[in-house]
Amino acid sequence: MLTARPRRNRTSPGIRGLVRETHLSPAHLVLPLFVQEGTRNETPIAAMPGQSRLSIDLIVEKAREALSLGVPAVALFPALPDSLKDPLGTESANASGLLQRTVRALKNALPDLVVITDVALDPYSSDGHDGVVVDGRIDNDRTLPLLARMAVSQAEAGADIVAPSDMMDGRVGFIRKALDEAGYTSVGICSYAVKYASSFYGPFREALDSAPRSGDKKTYQMDPANARECLREIALDEAEGADFLLVKPGLPYADVIRLVRDNSRLPVAAYQVSGEYTMLKLAAERGFLDYDACLLESLVCLRRAGADFIFTYAALDAARLLNRSA
Ligand code: PBG
Repeated sequence: MLTARPRRNRTSPGIRGLVRETHLSPAHLVLPLFVQEGTRNETPIAAMPGQSRLSIDLIVEKAREALSLGVPAVALFPALPDSLKDPLGTESANASGLLQRTVRALKNALPDLVVITDVALDPYSSDGHDGVVVDGRIDNDRTLPLLARMAVSQAEAGADIVAPSDMMDGRVGFIRKALDEAGYTSVGICSYAVKYASSFYGPFREALDSAPRSGDKKTYQMDPANARECLREIALDEAEGADFLLVKPGLPYADVIRLVRDNSRLPVAAYQVSGEYTMLKLAAERGFLDYDACLLESLVCLRRAGADFIFTYAALDAARLLNRSA
């Protein structure tokens, strides 16, 4: 006779529900959105099936749909024409720039929506880098005031949370100080504390036409071979005043999410990036994977790894599925 039969706890849906260790709901999701100029202007992104660049009016509609499905937050990424890009990313602090107008429109129409803005130079930079390029190198300390200025401009437009994704040293403290001095003491900072130099960002860079014009991002984003190094990053970001710590990409870095979870008291976010989304979509389009099932599984795995919340392009798909099964 067997003394223990773990299968007994899997006998029925009811029992499986009683012993389920991890829960996933639309409340755990953040929807990233790509914004562009125009009205009723939608441009599908070839590398990300089902995703488009949207004009502000359509962004507001999409965000309203997100809220109605129980997804509380959006993360905004502006797609700018080359004519607005320069080496210092000057447009990033334009009070009437595309991103700032989008934030205002969203907060006007949907005051309860959590609006998260990305702080990094790349969508605004003619070099396509997250920091300023000086003599072919990324100049950390010259970048910091530009990031702080961008974050203050986003807060001024009404952002609830600014999310520095640039990986410059010291930027969380720099941004915190600038926000506080400008009176935005309740605007939070979601630090992309542990962001890897990942090839899974490929489709995103196509969406924004933001690929580095020369070189790569390996002098500031982390080496995919490293995990322990993230402990140093998160300790610094905590000390500098981060409110949330984000790990990016998501699934291939589940061990890192766990490491962060076990070594910080801050909420942890995971970013299921463009390449992860596209892999699922294309395999499903070819009929080789069940998109709905694999999507929910990948998100629950990110939660199990330790993510409190998840940035995912599939937030609306997931919310619809979760609401149906609820
Ligand atoms: C850039 C930024 C990137 C992503 C979010 N912010 C790309 C990069 O670092 O090159 C990637 C998101 C994705 O792939 O979904 N600051």
